[in-house]
Amino acid sequence: MSDLLMDRSGGVLTITLNRLEKKNAFTRAMYASIADALAQADGDPALHALVIQGHETIFSAGNDIGDFLDRSAAAQESPALRFLRAISTFSKPLVAAVCGPAVGIGTTLLFHCDLVYAGDNAAFSMPFVNLGLCPEAASSHLAPQLMGHGRAAEALLLGEPFLAETALEIGLVSRIVPPSEAAALAQRQALKLAAKPLGALIETKRLMKKSQAAVVAERLLEEGASFARLLTEPAAREAFTAFLHKRKPDFSKA
Ligand code: COA
Repeated sequence: MSDLLMDRSGGVLTITLNRLEKKNAFTRAMYASIADALAQADGDPALHALVIQGHETIFSAGNDIGDFLDRSAAAQESPALRFLRAISTFSKPLVAAVCGPAVGIGTTLLFHCDLVYAGDNAAFSMPFVNLGLCPEAASSHLAPQLMGHGRAAEALLLGEPFLAETALEIGLVSRIVPPSEAAALAQRQALKLAAKPLGALIETKRLMKKSQAAVVAERLLEEGASFARLLTEPAAREAFTAFLHKRKPDFSKA
């Protein structure tokens, strides 16, 4: 079974994360496929919107920790960075349906979505520091901007999760629904977008994002360089090894 399902109908491309046995953790191959799909969708005049979704019980456990341990993953132009560039510059509306845990990039990719429909079981977390890492996806800029420094510090420095109500309050999420309804709502909203004139959608999204486009692009690169460096350092290696061995990390020597 493929780790990603792609379905195209009615002017909407729907990407479903389908790696349930690993809680929809993103592999490099998944990043690369989604980045390719985004690039293709951007240039396809028949596609007006893209939906990204997981499962009713889990959106995504974030980056695959085994891939993190692989040192070659530290390369600057990684598939993850290509994915982040593609999602942050995608010109058409991005819709997400999010239920259950959305960890790491599972949360930060949502900062680049336009409409996010959350199940009432959604839990968002950005535990980069707990893994010896730093924020990505320009979340070091976008999280404080959306949540204020204090709440962003709880999420980014302490790695504390926040729930759907908070996500709604800060505007990360557009609406909260029962988990069984999130995907259908995302689909309905995307089909509404598909019936609207594409040029007007693209121009509206461009104008809405204009004030932060340059800072997001720059921050992605700066975070990417720091992230790549931290990935190879002892604290991160200890965190990844501990996770894979199902034990608590010991940072006393890192
Ligand atoms: N990378 C690789 N494997 C992962 C993973 C990840 N990010 N997240 C979960 N898995 C694997 C587990 O190792 C486990 O594999 P196994 O069955 O071979 O032992 C399987 O997926 C199920 O995970 P488990 O932790 O048992 O599920 P859970 O329902 O108890 O918890 C999460 C779900 C998402 C809360 C938990 O898996 C988790 O915290 N994952 C890590 C999140 C993380 O730190 N991501 C990186 C962010 S930068």
